[in-house]
Amino acid sequence: MEQYSSKVMEHFASPHNVGEIADADGVGTVGNPVCGDVMRLYIKVEKDIITDAKFKTFGCGAAIATSSMVTDLVKGKTVGEALKISNQAVAEALGGLPKVKMHCSVLAEEALKSALDDYYKKRGKPSPVKLPESVGHEHEME
Ligand code: FES
Repeated sequence: MEQYSSKVMEHFASPHNVGEIADADGVGTVGNPVCGDVMRLYIKVEKDIITDAKFKTFGCGAAIATSSMVTDLVKGKTVGEALKISNQAVAEALGGLPKVKMHCSVLAEEALKSALDDYYKKRGKPSPVKLPESVGHEHEME
């Protein structure tokens, strides 16, 4: 059985950026109907820079660790840079995830994309975000 990296364990035990942002500029909520886990991500944007990010995740340890890591990763980035953060980048930043847990990092990428999409919509701008068809639908369990 593949083990979790110490970084995953760290972020699971003491996740960073837990909570909500009341006056968020973008909020994204995504769920994986297969495992039932749900992730909500909030971003605060000032002059195109993500100044704050918080999350609430009702999910497995890897979902919590990837939420924690993705919120760390986006802080200080421009909206454009944040758009390029992939689930692989989140998993790599955590020192890797067991194969069967990669779908948890997909949830983190989708929560971020969905928050960015909301940000563009709230600003009345056309959203460049391509939300995967899987958002809100079934995910591959791998
Ligand atoms: Fe559902 Fe991890 S098992 S996101």
